[in-house]
Amino acid sequence: GNYQYIKVSKVGSRSNVGLIQLNRPKALNALCNPLLKEVAQAMTAFGKDSSVGAIVLTGNEKAFAAGADIKEMEDKTYASWMTSNMHQDLDCVAKVRKPVIAAVNGFALGGGCEMAMMCDIIYAGEKSRFGQPEILLGIIPGAGGTQRLIRSVGKSKAMEMVLTGNQITAQEAEKMGLVSKLFPVEKVLEESIKLGEKIASNSQIANMVAKECCNAAYETTLKEGLHLEKRMFHATFATKDQKEGMAAFVEKRKANFTNE
Ligand code: HXC
Repeated sequence: GNYQYIKVSKVGSRSNVGLIQLNRPKALNALCNPLLKEVAQAMTAFGKDSSVGAIVLTGNEKAFAAGADIKEMEDKTYASWMTSNMHQDLDCVAKVRKPVIAAVNGFALGGGCEMAMMCDIIYAGEKSRFGQPEILLGIIPGAGGTQRLIRSVGKSKAMEMVLTGNQITAQEAEKMGLVSKLFPVEKVLEESIKLGEKIASNSQIANMVAKECCNAAYETTLKEGLHLEKRMFHATFATKDQKEGMAAFVEKRKANFTNE
């Protein structure tokens, strides 16, 4: 595609990791409508591209994203929100079935923090900052900030962030489990791509099934989630990749998954 607000490429030694870089540096990657439209388009395309086994979403060293575009939102009305597709576009980040890694440096605020939380794993730089500052604008988070954050870090920490708008440091974010690992600023993207390559070497089917089941833990009851997991576990035995994975173990060699 011909993108204005993002850069898209395939990276890794086997070119099997899809990379989406938000590229609106002058506005700290504020998530304006056209930018989100492009992210949705790129996510959907990587979702369909059978050569892509994992996706990395990143910004630049100063900002992952400083939130939805406040200048664009200022004059918005109920009617204009209801007739806009912004949420559908943003939701593409959560809905893509392949694993998505957020590689965060700098600010991940408001919609930026929410977008990172839509990803499956967050790797972050030692100087990154996370926050839900919407309350300071007289609004509330609108893309998961009151929902995914609670499930991720628990009620007390999440509500402190949502009700004060305070930013937390990368170290705090890692300690509370929002972030999986911290790295020096210049290493975050490289390490995220490495993680993407490792994940992309699995069976894509197993990855998608694992993701679907993990998401069920967020979205359903424990009883339903355990039931889904058990049935999907059984289902993996209908794949050639299960036979290959187990044969490779028995024969003491590396598995060669074919996504069948
Ligand atoms: C529009 C933004 C922006 C944003 C930064 N900019 N954040 N523009 N929307 N969210 C622009 C600034 O206007 C400025 O452009 C340029 O980026 C650099 O920003 P500065 O403020 O000069 O940088 P700095 O002093 O380093 O401060 C960084 C900052 C601050 C702390 C991140 O920019 C900030 O507080 N931004 C807003 C964060 C926020 O409230 N996010 C939540 C938005 S609501 P100009 O051209 O003016 O110099 C939201 C709702 C989600 O996200 C709902 C989901 C659907």
